[in-house]
Amino acid sequence: MTGRIPQAFIDELMNRVDIVDVIDSRVQLKKAGHEYKACCPFHNEKTPSFTVSPGKQFYHCFGCGAHGTALGFLMEYEHLGFVEAIEDLASQVGMEVPYEQGQSHSVNPELGRLYDILEQASHFFQQQLRSHPQAGQAVDYLKGRDFSGEIAARYGFGYAPPGWNNLIDQFGKDPASLKLLITAGLVIEQGRNGPYDRFRNRIMIPILDRRGRTIAFGGRQLESEGADAGGPKYLNSPETPVFHKGRELYGLYQARKRGSRLQRLLVVEGYLDVVALAQHGIDYAVATLGTATTAEHLEVIYRTVREVIFCFDGDRAGRAAAWRALENALPAQREGREARFLFLPEGEDPDTMVRGEGKDAFEARYQEAQPLSAYLFDTLMQDLDMTSVDGRARLVSTAKPLLEKIPDPVYRQMMQDQLAELAHINRSHLGSEIPEPQAQRPARRQSPLTRTPVRLAIAIILQHPELVGQLTNRPVLTDIERPGMDLLCQLLEILGQDPHLNSAALLERWRDSDYTSHMHKLTQMELFGDQQGLLAELQDTLDRLSRTTADQRIDELYEKILQQTINEIELSEYNQILAQKKQHQSSNKSGGN
Ligand code: UTP
Ligand code: MN
Repeated sequence: MTGRIPQAFIDELMNRVDIVDVIDSRVQLKKAGHEYKACCPFHNEKTPSFTVSPGKQFYHCFGCGAHGTALGFLMEYEHLGFVEAIEDLASQVGMEVPYEQGQSHSVNPELGRLYDILEQASHFFQQQLRSHPQAGQAVDYLKGRDFSGEIAARYGFGYAPPGWNNLIDQFGKDPASLKLLITAGLVIEQGRNGPYDRFRNRIMIPILDRRGRTIAFGGRQLESEGADAGGPKYLNSPETPVFHKGRELYGLYQARKRGSRLQRLLVVEGYLDVVALAQHGIDYAVATLGTATTAEHLEVIYRTVREVIFCFDGDRAGRAAAWRALENALPAQREGREARFLFLPEGEDPDTMVRGEGKDAFEARYQEAQPLSAYLFDTLMQDLDMTSVDGRARLVSTAKPLLEKIPDPVYRQMMQDQLAELAHINRSHLGSEIPEPQAQRPARRQSPLTRTPVRLAIAIILQHPELVGQLTNRPVLTDIERPGMDLLCQLLEILGQDPHLNSAALLERWRDSDYTSHMHKLTQMELFGDQQGLLAELQDTLDRLSRTTADQRIDELYEKILQQTINEIELSEYNQILAQKKQHQSSNKSGGN
């Protein structure tokens, strides 16, 4: 259990999230009775043995034994860490993850200070855009490009005024602060006259991470050549401890925050393309930060949506960028994931395009977007004579290594089938038909559990936690040495305090404990009967347990009496249990059941 995210938040999150939504957006589920089924994403299979139970908020594969909650699924399927998976789920249901005070959630306190200084710098730049005497040029530039004040504010646009020490004067008067500014990439350490501000006379575009923290800036030159003109059109923060270009996508935070449920992401080349698109109602565009689309980007994208459209200029640079994106997208392709490529007419970019034709016309272009497979083969065949043997052989030799980058056997086979057809060759020349299994967990046989009363009680509670609140008779259970008894007592206590916890929230409370695997098995134990029947069974089992544990305790205490080692407290416990027993016996006689 983590001390960093409050338990109550995880409980609430597990109650709000629906495991069916979480899994269905990644693996297509089919309804089967009360449950959902699919081919297991964690091992290779042709007939579905992966089941998802909306009631228990739990998934389980009968083939390989994979199992867990929605949170566990995300961690496993997306290779996320615990905190990352929590963040992911929370953003899907519109919750903000609170981090407990005191214990900074970054292990390294230096990181916390970096985030702080970057945030402060962003505020400073935004303030300068409103109030600096020379901000007029920047405002005019933005207006000239048709950006509204509202959109500039939404994306946190700012202005770095001309001059070499604005930030240093503001935040870097002592050596420690100056060092922080340098580490944050805001100040350059060595100039002729000492350290100086990196960004001068530029429009400042803050880059946020997935949690909305400012981690870097892109600084755009003002088109009107000012006193400080020169340098590249965009000056970007360097790599820092909190900023890794190859991982971040500009606009992703805003896109995830706005869309009720994001369906797709549009990947474009420029910062201002993202903002212009958003201003025209296309609020699901993101941009890489002056780098190619990396495999890490693709992972981030597919964690968020199933469908991505790469939108590039039709020129040579755009084509090259698209091809790089394709190469990095190949390893991320699996069933249910989609990538398409859209090329704009030469000389246009998404910014000019959407301004010219508006949202609907722009979105209509998606219909012309090429699916990844078509784009791949079309590009490879471009200069080949496919009527000749040489041309077809050339296609095979260039396509084969690309297709080998696809780890998903089903998708790879489909692509190989297509290649075989295009090249008029026998399918068997392209590698094994039967996919070699990738590194997988070995199939685990679940040893069946004997139904002891303790297990039965735990299984009913885990699968139907709401029943605990409906018990008419709260049994007194002593935490005696009987396997699982302590777990049962804890479950009853937790549900006594908070009767609304669902199965997944309970399971998450015991994540990574000695009980985890036991609890998962009990979540799968088959139970018979409807709610009323199970309630009666639970009540009966608990009553019986409380009686036998009472008997055992009486024996223990009686032994102490004989040995004359009993103390006052134990003696009063002894008397209490005896009294309860008497009461129970008499009520049984008169009640007749
Ligand atoms: P573009 O040159 O296509 O510019 O660069 P743009 O996005 O259309 O910008 P505007 O519309 O002229 O303002 C695309 C991206 O490449 C990176 C930036 O991330 C930019 O958004 N880039 C470009 C740089 O990092 N440095 C540069 O000097 C130019
Ligand atoms: Mn542009």
